[in-house]
Amino acid sequence: MKIDVLLGLQWGDEGKGKVVDVLTPSYDVISRFQGGPNAGHTLEFEGRKFVLRSIPSGIFQGDKINVIGNGVVLDPALFKEEVESLEKSGHTLTDRLRISKKAHLILPTHRLLDMAYESAKGSGKIGTTGKGIGPTYTDKVSRNGLRVGDLLHNFDEKYKAAINRHLDILKHYQIEFDLPALEKVWFEGIEKLKEFQFIDSEHFINDTLKSGKKVLAEGAQGTMLDIDFGSYPFVTSSNTICAGACTGLGVAPNKIGDVYGIFKAYCTRVGSGPFPTELFDHDGDEMRRIGFEFGSVTGRPRRCGWIDLVALRYAIMINGVTQLIMMKADVLDSFETIKACVAYKIDGAETEEFPFDLNDGAEPVFVELPGWKTDLTSIKSEDEFPEELNSYLDFLEEELGVPVKIVSVGPDREQTIIRHQD
Ligand code: GDP
Ligand code: IMO
Ligand code: MG
Repeated sequence: MKIDVLLGLQWGDEGKGKVVDVLTPSYDVISRFQGGPNAGHTLEFEGRKFVLRSIPSGIFQGDKINVIGNGVVLDPALFKEEVESLEKSGHTLTDRLRISKKAHLILPTHRLLDMAYESAKGSGKIGTTGKGIGPTYTDKVSRNGLRVGDLLHNFDEKYKAAINRHLDILKHYQIEFDLPALEKVWFEGIEKLKEFQFIDSEHFINDTLKSGKKVLAEGAQGTMLDIDFGSYPFVTSSNTICAGACTGLGVAPNKIGDVYGIFKAYCTRVGSGPFPTELFDHDGDEMRRIGFEFGSVTGRPRRCGWIDLVALRYAIMINGVTQLIMMKADVLDSFETIKACVAYKIDGAETEEFPFDLNDGAEPVFVELPGWKTDLTSIKSEDEFPEELNSYLDFLEEELGVPVKIVSVGPDREQTIIRHQD
């Protein structure tokens, strides 16, 4: 069998958590391959709402195995919080969640370094989630990181060396902190972590595929936040793209099956950085209000704008997307007109190519389509789609060259329409 990958094509928060949950019944194993608790994946079903940060979104469906892969960075303190809140709501995970020994640990000082680096950047700050993601991946790449598997051998020594190295750096920044208090919570997290099975996840995933079982890889963040191909430097510190599933799980490129690319019917971004189609008017405010566009981790208001097909085409190319999933169609229910950016104007010249540096200024060139002015939230099948929604989907498929297989019309698991037409 091959592994299917689901990932975001925009700047994150496309609705990955919801769709992974919907697709989980067709899979045996769900695995996260990059990112960490900077992610906030929301799932809604049976009148309840959950936000997952490090735990894969397959955790609510029966006896499926969920894996935190080697490409993930894990904060034991936040992991403990997440597990306990799930346990409180009646979900026991210990048998169904396994953790790669090669996943890197976010230390208490990584979070402090994240804060220090951000404040030193002043107005040029990235607007990170403050979870220590950048400093943890930096330590991984500079070969100074601590891994989950290290908890099993001489951990204290390695931990102290890392903390002392970080404290040496922190001396140069003016931030206040209470390290013993942070460490207390962190080590309690370590105890919680140890309740779970640490595995060689690359063997587990490949053996699972070999035995004919199905694996779904769940991306975090989105392609426009990818460390190589996103709007650098306003990006996260991991490869959020399909290739990240190879390095973050240990699967070979020729083992990748379907690539589900997920996007909103419009576009959002949280944090700093360029966003060519951003709206500063009533339409943008309406998208934020109706779509409840506030960060699921930080609560920050998300910046809103029209769909950007230049960026989407680029994302589809980089990821080898085979199927598209359009989210939050219902948020546009009341809009008279829908706009889509089909090209950029850069230095007066029109281009459909994604530029080297989005920060240099790209003016969107829009086309307008009629809105559907229909409440989609209780629709049960594609036969009920209004004509204007079908036209919007036809237009997107034509522009993007990949079929839209799923349309989401509300946050609930049930508000998901699978399209059957080719
Ligand atoms: P993720 O990080 O990609 O998993 O996305 P988030 O959970 O951060 O953000 C998506 C938000 O949109 C969540 O609040 C979801 O409950 C919500 N959502 C998902 N799909 C839909 C939809 O089709 N319509 C509406 N109105 N909300 C949706
Ligand atoms: P999910 O998985 C949206 C953004 C931050 C910031 C930049 C770098 O829920 O889609 P980091 O803390 O990673 O160093 O921050 O990336 N960011 C996200 N934006 N959704 C996310 O995750 C994000 N994870 C990070 O806002 O701009
Ligand atoms: Mg999110």
